[in-house]
Amino acid sequence: MFDRLPKVLGSVIEATLAPHPVDRYLELVDPMITWSDLRARIVDIERRTPRTITLILTPTRQWTGFTAGQYVQLSVVIDGVRQTRCFSPANAEGGRGGRIELTITSHDGGLVSRHLRENARVGDVLGLTPAVGDFCMPTPRPARMLFVSGGSGVTPVLSMLRTLVAERHRGAVDFVHYAATPNDVVYAAEVDDIARAHPEWNIRTVYTRRDGEIGHPRGHFVPAHLDELAPDHRSAEVFVCGPAGLMAAVTDYFTDLGRAEAVHSEAFTAPATFAPDPDQPVSGELTFTGARTTAANDGRTILEQAESAGLTPEFGCRMGICFSCTAPKKSGCTRNVLTGELDTDSDTHIQICVSAPVGDVEIDL
Ligand SMILES: Cc1cc2nc3c(=O)[nH]c(=O)nc-3n(C[C@H](O)[C@H](O)[C@H](O)COP(=O)(O)OP(=O)(O)OC[C@H]3O[C@@H](n4cnc5c(N)ncnc54)[C@H](O)[C@@H]3O)c2cc1C
Ligand code: FES
Repeated sequence: MFDRLPKVLGSVIEATLAPHPVDRYLELVDPMITWSDLRARIVDIERRTPRTITLILTPTRQWTGFTAGQYVQLSVVIDGVRQTRCFSPANAEGGRGGRIELTITSHDGGLVSRHLRENARVGDVLGLTPAVGDFCMPTPRPARMLFVSGGSGVTPVLSMLRTLVAERHRGAVDFVHYAATPNDVVYAAEVDDIARAHPEWNIRTVYTRRDGEIGHPRGHFVPAHLDELAPDHRSAEVFVCGPAGLMAAVTDYFTDLGRAEAVHSEAFTAPATFAPDPDQPVSGELTFTGARTTAANDGRTILEQAESAGLTPEFGCRMGICFSCTAPKKSGCTRNVLTGELDTDSDTHIQICVSAPVGDVEIDL
């Protein structure tokens, strides 16, 4: 119904209902009727392995589709606090109005992944953001593509494979997936179907647990696996997503071949912590103006220092990808822990998961 409402009229309604946005009122009637918020309803749930849950979502009218390999941010309220995490759709890319398939692997001690696996129900409505990310296949498609995934990293890669199938792609495709055991392969049947329909593509799963007898080769990635399973990989455009060790090994191998630029990768997890730069003297105080709290700067990121001070700022990826941790810096100098870049601007929004204070900093948290 809002598609036909002139934008200016919507703004007038929004202003009239201030301080609460119009969507706060509409959700009392139906949380899927929204003026500006993008949300999604769970319309189906699949439990493919003991550790995963697959959510089939129908988005609200604001959804504009995604490109295979991109990710969305999903928000869920846990104990009264909105928690947001990134997930990559596993289905073939689609346009407006299409369904979204997210497969979430639950981690011991993982807040959102465990909550969704244990509590998600058909009919639940979750917060969603538009799809973003540049872990995507180029257009036109390269003549040869190699996909390497490990564990839950299969989702964006499967989305690309399914998209190539839908496009009736005629180029060469190699896909090597790493899983601990056959019970951990979340999309085994779908991948088998693709392999049967495309006998000219090299599609193989490698099991990393060496105590089993299943499959050859076995074990974690070594370049010899590619010589055996995808012999023409040296000329391929490479897409890799999975545990940090797998991504580093594949990237190092192609770098040694002089083909670092051919590797496209996506990390799902941040390093446990960004160690303070030993070359930077640690000084000053970090003031959280919203909470009216001040702490001695210890050199870690503002997100980590805020959590140590008892605050619970919103975050998604904790590694500078998703922007869900962005907060207004009132004053002071911060260093981007990924690039080393200094930011001395006041009244600017910064990503607190990758920003460390340099001297006194005031942040509106
Ligand atoms: C771009 C992007 C796309 C993503 N797509 C997917 C996806 O399609 N499917 C999916 O399942 N996840 C995906 N993730 C990971 C996801 O966003 C969460 O990080 C993950 O679900 C854990 O969140 P949590 O709240 O359960 O754990 P948290 O409470 O944030 O973390 C708790 C503990 O779990 C550990 N942990 C968190 N993630 C992992 C991991 N991946 N492997 C091992 N240990 C971990 C942490 O080290 C920590 O100790 C993606 C992440 C990014 C950045
Ligand atoms: S939490 Fe994703 S950018 Fe900071």
